[in-house]
This record gives sequence, structure tokens and C-alpha cells, in this order.
Amino acid sequence: MAIERIVSGIRPIGNSHLGGYDEVLKNWIELQHEHECFFFVADWHALTTHYDSPEIIEESVLEMVIDWLAAGVDPAQVTIFIQSKVPEHAELYTLLSMITPLSWMEKFSAHKDQQGKPSSKGLLTYGFLGYPLLQSADILLYRATQVPLCKNQLPNIEFTRDVARRFNHLYGKEKGYEVRAEEAIKKLGSKKGHLYRDLKKSYQEGGDEQALESAQSLIEEQQNLSHGDKERLLGFLEGGGKIILPEPEFHLMKNNDSLENTLDRNSSDYKQKKQQYLDNPDLIRSVMAHGCEKARKVAKDTMRDIREVMGINF
Ligand code: TRP
Repeated sequence: MAIERIVSGIRPIGNSHLGGYDEVLKNWIELQHEHECFFFVADWHALTTHYDSPEIIEESVLEMVIDWLAAGVDPAQVTIFIQSKVPEHAELYTLLSMITPLSWMEKFSAHKDQQGKPSSKGLLTYGFLGYPLLQSADILLYRATQVPLCKNQLPNIEFTRDVARRFNHLYGKEKGYEVRAEEAIKKLGSKKGHLYRDLKKSYQEGGDEQALESAQSLIEEQQNLSHGDKERLLGFLEGGGKIILPEPEFHLMKNNDSLENTLDRNSSDYKQKKQQYLDNPDLIRSVMAHGCEKARKVAKDTMRDIREVMGINF
């Protein structure tokens, strides 16, 4: 089995508020042995809905990380960190916001129940609107290959894939690539050429997978095209050129029934570990400091590539 790079975060808003928290945690514990995992405290995401109760966030961060460790997340295997301590998340979020169509964001804010209800405050903030894009930045920053999700988060990962594809489309092109692709489109003839362009647009701008498939078979059926031109036109559909930010796959999380882990907060093992961390806050701080440092190293690497292709690498 190939080793995947996995990124996942949980918002520090008090465990009792989070449906599915234990399920996520149990999945993490299972995944950590098989894959390279980055698990983090999504404190900026918590602020999108809890901006008026910072005390909840402040209290929950340590409490939550202690819970992860007592439950069996192993800091020797996993990189554990806090989102706000890796400012590259905010930088990538800003840069991605430049290329993300407003209509994609608006589509999301229509289903607010994805991530809590800002409507309880009667106010839709800019930060809340940006929630799924910040989540995309979290994932793409580490070039994750997989994200563990429950079903209701599916739109978020589809959104992330769309953003990655658009990014690669805009910035991953190689010199001269487009000209050659355009010449190959002419060889399709005007009718099929138009169809190709329409399908490409629906796929790249709207994420329409069916349009992608139709365009692929259109190319494959052409008999007058050279192998090189076919490859070019197929590549052009998906952005062409270099893939700077890979599109992550989602990993549908197991439910309770099929997990081997049981999470028993009354077990002596859990209680003992928890006490050990409560008695020694420095231990937790050093786990987090170490994790943040490791995460930042990867994040900085990605940002270097991104700044370069976006022309802000002075
Ligand atoms: N949206 C997730 C939740 O509702 C939290 C989250 C933020 C997340 N960033 C992420 C999950 C990146 C996976 C990957 O709890």
C-alpha cells in the first residue's frame, strides 16, 4: 500500500459541540500507523463561527490536544500543530482568494450547516464565507494526497480539488504549451474545436466531471491526430503543464462499527495519560512546538513554489 500524506484538523470549540468528534479521532488513531499524518488544531476556523467567544477557543486548544494524546494519537508518528502558529496557512489562503471565483464561495454559503451556523448570530461574515477556502489552504499547503472526511464534508473536498485544478491551470503551464495546444485544436475542425473548448470550460471553471469525460472521448476518437497532439489536448483539459498543487483524494472515514479502536475515556490508560499531561504542561508545549516546526518546514517549501509561479518571489 502506498503511503499517503494525510491532513486533518478539528476546531477547538469544546468537544461537546462537535458532532462526530470521536469518530474523527478514532480514524486518526488508525491512520497514524499507516500514513504520514498532519493533524492540527483549526483555531482560525473556530473563529469563523466563535469570533465573539475567544475564551472558548483559548480553553479548548490545550484541552483538545491533551484529549488527542490521551486517546492514543502518537506524537512520535504524527505531526501535531496549531493552524495559527503556521502563518503560511493565512498566506496561501490570501493568494488562493485571488483566483477563486466569488460564485464558488456563494454556492457554499448557501449550505451553512456544513460547518456550524453563523446564522445563530444573524450575521454572515467575510471570514465565514471564506471557510472552505481556508480549509483548502490547510490541505494544499501540505500537498496532501488524502483527507479523511465524513460524508457531509464531501463538498469541501470537491471544492478543494476545483481550487487546485484552477491553480494548476493558471500557473502550471509550460512555455509554448498553449500555442501548440491551440494549433492542435484547429486540427479538430471548427465544429469539434468549439465543442472541445466548451467542454474544457465547463470542466475547468465549473468542475463538471462529465464534461471532462466527454472531451476525453472526443479526443480519443480522433483518427487524424498525432499521438503528441492527442496527449497535448488531453493535458490541456486538465490544465496542462506542471501540477504544482496535487488534487487530494478523500478518504471516507469508517463509522463506529467498523473501527478497531474504542475510545474509552474511563479507561485507566486514558486517565493516566491525561493526568501525565495535565501535570506537565511543558510536555504538551514541547509536542506542539516540535510539530509546528515540522509543519512549517513543509509549508515553507510549498509557499516557495507558489510565490515563484505567482510572480511574487522578489
Ligand atoms: N472543517 C473541519 C471541521 O468541520 C475542520 C477542518 C479545517 C479540516 N481544516 C481542515 C478538516 C482541513 C480536514 C482538513 O471540523
